[in-house]
Amino acid sequence: MTRQDVEAFCAETRAALEAINSPEALEQFRLTYLVQKGRIRQMLDQLRHVPPEEKPIIGRLLNDLRRTVEAEYAALAERFRQERSRADFDPTLPGRPLPTGSLHPVLQTLDRMVEIFIRMGFAVAHGPDVEDDYHNFEALNFPPDHPARDMQDTFFLKRTDRSGNPLLLRTHTSPVQIRLMESMQPPIRAIMPGRVYRNEAISARSLAEFHQLEGLCIDEHTSFADLKGTMIAFAEQMYGSGIRYRFRPSFFPFTEPSAEMDIECFLCSGKGCRVCKYSGWLEIVGCGMVHPNVLRACGLDPERWQGYAFGFGIERVTMLLAGIDDIRLLYENDLRLLEQF
Ligand code: DAH
Repeated sequence: MTRQDVEAFCAETRAALEAINSPEALEQFRLTYLVQKGRIRQMLDQLRHVPPEEKPIIGRLLNDLRRTVEAEYAALAERFRQERSRADFDPTLPGRPLPTGSLHPVLQTLDRMVEIFIRMGFAVAHGPDVEDDYHNFEALNFPPDHPARDMQDTFFLKRTDRSGNPLLLRTHTSPVQIRLMESMQPPIRAIMPGRVYRNEAISARSLAEFHQLEGLCIDEHTSFADLKGTMIAFAEQMYGSGIRYRFRPSFFPFTEPSAEMDIECFLCSGKGCRVCKYSGWLEIVGCGMVHPNVLRACGLDPERWQGYAFGFGIERVTMLLAGIDDIRLLYENDLRLLEQF
């Protein structure tokens, strides 16, 4: 094997490499030149027969050839691989769906409730979570010895307000009624959604933190019939127009008369089931005509102004709609539940 032979071989190999124009040709080149018994290996094996003075030159020629050919081979293989994956890309295929998030079920219920009341002409108002005794209890006609004022039901703050009055986390959204009547002139027609807090043991039926939607309507000629009509219109839009309902007398310090509205259990059609506790009825809202003492506390003359108020538990409405019987499920953040909403 002479130096001319090797130079010719190098030229031939490079020409063969340059002529490659397809993955198949590249593979053929690999099988001919690069494998264990390929032509480059064969040439290297013949170095043994080269006269010693020629060996360094011929050896370098062959080793350079092997190095550059292997590098170029790898580059070509990568180019063909990329071209193939580009060719395999089909822009007409539908995309892979991304997992979508959604609002929490309680927020979805709240949105639906707000929408229904807005359609009926109610505005939306908010009040503070940290309240004072006056707005949470006193102005709402809770007598001083009412059990709801007890430490067991109310979270009191260590701090007081500027006048030294105790501060607490509101136990219901009803204090927002007071703040509205204090801050604006009737007529008033507003709903007041928000978070409320109670110092209660956590169970399937109660949490220490939950949500309510309060309603208040004050005008010169507002009657119990308006209250009933509003509650019925709401229930029909929320639960379906064919529902059966009933009003039961009840008691709240801030309303007189007071009532609770039940709808027929839509899970068992009134026959009795787990969710309605085998009564056939689901309690959905507490309501009543605003007590004259409450109006007076807000500087309104009960002879001129009357109105009605109502209060929903938003978790409860959600649970009834979804047939959930343990309130804790709503806040465990288990995706198996949340994904269903
Ligand atoms: N504040 C009451 C509660 O937390 C709910 C309620 C009942 C609100 C009757 C009202 C109402 O405005 O009229 O249980």
